[in-house]
Amino acid sequence: MIYKKQYGHPFDTESVVGSFVPAMETIPYLTREPDGFSYAMDPQDILYGLGENIRGINKRGWVYESKCSDDPNHTENKSSLYGAYNFMIVSGKATFGFFIDYPGKVTFDCGYTDLDTLRVTVAEENYDLYIIEGESPTDIVHQFRQLVGRSYIPPKWAFGATQSRWSYMNEDEVREVVANYRTNNMPLDAVVLDIDYMERYKDFTVDEQRFPHFADFAAEMKAQGIRLVPIIDAGVKIEDGYDVYEEGVKNGYFCTNQDGTPFVAGVWPGRVHFPDMLNPEARAWFGSKYKFLLNQGIEGFWNDMNEPAIFYSEETLKKTFAKIDEYRTQNLDISSFFAFKNLVAGLSNNENDYKLFYHDTKQGRMRHDKVHNIFGYNMTRAAGEAFEQLEPDKRILMYSRSACIGMHRYGGIWTGDNQSWWSHILLSLHMMPSLNMCGFLYEGPDIGGFGSNTTEDLVLRWYGVGIFSPLLRNHSAAGTRKQEPYRFKNKAAFAGILQLRYLLLPYIYSEYMKAALRDGMYCMPLAFAFPNDAFARQVEDEVMIGESLLIAPVYEQNARGRYVYLPEEMLQVRVKCSENDRMETTVLPAGHHYIPVELDEVVFFVRKGHILPIARGGDSIQNVASVNFADLRLFAHAPDGAAYEYYTDDGETKDYDKPEHFVHITLDADGNAESDCADVKVEKA
Ligand code: GLC
Repeated sequence: MIYKKQYGHPFDTESVVGSFVPAMETIPYLTREPDGFSYAMDPQDILYGLGENIRGINKRGWVYESKCSDDPNHTENKSSLYGAYNFMIVSGKATFGFFIDYPGKVTFDCGYTDLDTLRVTVAEENYDLYIIEGESPTDIVHQFRQLVGRSYIPPKWAFGATQSRWSYMNEDEVREVVANYRTNNMPLDAVVLDIDYMERYKDFTVDEQRFPHFADFAAEMKAQGIRLVPIIDAGVKIEDGYDVYEEGVKNGYFCTNQDGTPFVAGVWPGRVHFPDMLNPEARAWFGSKYKFLLNQGIEGFWNDMNEPAIFYSEETLKKTFAKIDEYRTQNLDISSFFAFKNLVAGLSNNENDYKLFYHDTKQGRMRHDKVHNIFGYNMTRAAGEAFEQLEPDKRILMYSRSACIGMHRYGGIWTGDNQSWWSHILLSLHMMPSLNMCGFLYEGPDIGGFGSNTTEDLVLRWYGVGIFSPLLRNHSAAGTRKQEPYRFKNKAAFAGILQLRYLLLPYIYSEYMKAALRDGMYCMPLAFAFPNDAFARQVEDEVMIGESLLIAPVYEQNARGRYVYLPEEMLQVRVKCSENDRMETTVLPAGHHYIPVELDEVVFFVRKGHILPIARGGDSIQNVASVNFADLRLFAHAPDGAAYEYYTDDGETKDYDKPEHFVHITLDADGNAESDCADVKVEKA
């Protein structure tokens, strides 16, 4: 059951699609506070949600802010990352969910100020509060997701491996990446083009020196089974003669200063204007620009810097230079030196700058800071709505950096500028279920780490968990150590781990699709699957992938294994990646186990009575198109038999709900496997 309470005059974020919610007079569970509400927590209460964020799956013990921020330091002392995900579940003494539909700043003090108090503060009293009652956290997530609408579904090829790096400078560098993957037997489906493919960082342009025959090049790559995925940034370069800039100015499509002139900010190209993503006309116009690349054979994009990131605003830059001039003649002492030093550092993503510009929304003129958290969402929506018109029958890949609940209908996310740190492997594991709750099923981290120099073992271990996230993308920052898998010594292990991902694709895709089509979760905390298991409720470094799989990755350097908690008897599957995906299975009883996992191994666990269907093929697989989704080997520990509902479709078109896409597979106690679709062959492994 969902209840809604409206406070003041909320801005309609269009995050919610369901209109079936009865209004409530008084709010259950929560205590009203002057600027929000609070909840008295019991020691055993767990707090779930908040999407992509720092710290654990259980959000207790820290203070978080929904305030989309371009911050590449994802450290424990932060409170905000790139997105705003105002959905939480309290699970314990009472179990309920709540969602704050508000586009500005919201603070979630989850026991930071007072260990036992959850205190939510909303910047203005103009918001909708939804309370969701359900039988369990899983049921609450399901109801919430019906409220906010079906999650984005990417094309099937987007479940393949992606190679990215900020600094592939020209066609030949991309060709070299692809050739290295192919010669090393590492399957690959996409190469990402970062900002250097553009002409002077101008959206919807291609640099003619570096990529002289772009459409031909896209076709050449496609013939090798590779899609190019170009980046689009939020800021439009100010440059005479540049059509996007000129059209935007002429039609008044850019965000404005108080006096109505276009607002100027600095990002990669230098000075830019921001398209007014909250103005429906401007949004449609910006969306239509993706056509330039679609027409050249592009089938996937990533939207970046859309918090929006601001290196500087014209106004703050001027003031900063003036202030520096003042300091020039001073004796810089204890107070003035640090103020001076922080002046320039404080230019970027300065909160004051977000108060300087305005949007022309359907609901009138709005100052940006009051609607800040829905800017990135609406950039991605611009693209999503345009794709519906331009390519109505085709799935287009889209993932964004900034997001807000509502955007999950138009695209996925990647989790931004992490670092090549071991702690960030675990962080990426924590983000997965938290994002899933909020509707963001298509997600993944920069595998290997974006910032800092990586190491071979870190990349291998990161793949060990990354192969289970829907978006599997290796990406790194310019200037850091190169980290494409073929650069390292243990090539066979990298090839094997990537091949394992492709072998798992029938299951990964099937579980993804069922989660998306039924408002469920592809990845969930152990506690959701084993609600009566007191220890499972505390586990933060294992998660469920779909209905059958439990993963417990190694995330510490030099560890040659780890302790794993199994809530019930399970089938352990050990994969020796460097030896052509040699797989061994053993049944393990419930309880705590020390599981050795060498660098070239991946170990996962299949739930008793459940089935893990995987493809055949090993090293004959080059990309998703070469995976046979209709010839399955079934891994299972099913002494009493088991059943699995297998989802399969062409992965390109959008007739998702057709009954023939759902195949019923059974396995009896003697190991006889059957499917109710003649085209899908099954056999017990
Ligand atoms: C941002 C993105 C990063 C990208 C870089 C250059 O930092 O988060 O992924 O490589 O910009 O475009």
